[in-house]
Amino acid sequence: MSGLKVTFVQDDGVEKVIEDATPGQSLMEIGRFHGVAGIVGDCGGGCACATCHVYVDEKWQAVIGKPDDIEAATLDMVSEICRDNSRLCCQIQMRKELDGLRLVVAPNL
Ligand code: FES
Repeated sequence: MSGLKVTFVQDDGVEKVIEDATPGQSLMEIGRFHGVAGIVGDCGGGCACATCHVYVDEKWQAVIGKPDDIEAATLDMVSEICRDNSRLCCQIQMRKELDGLRLVVAPNL
């Protein structure tokens, strides 16, 4: 079985296209594993650091959904660069429905 595809657009404009993402991994883990610049994951996926902040491409927003209250509170730590499509990618598990997903990595503060 081939993996799922996800594209991270780094803050420097470089696009990291990953084609072997495994369902069940978080997008933070996938990004870190592939050396995506700006996906730091300081808290290890605990929804506490906001160093895995991404902007979800418009066409994927409906399937990805909105942050829950805990994630929204953590996003408040970086409120100056938050947008309506902000998510913490440690809180999103890769799944078949997200095959082809495109994310823009938020700038590191
Ligand atoms: S890795 Fe810390 S909030 Fe996502």
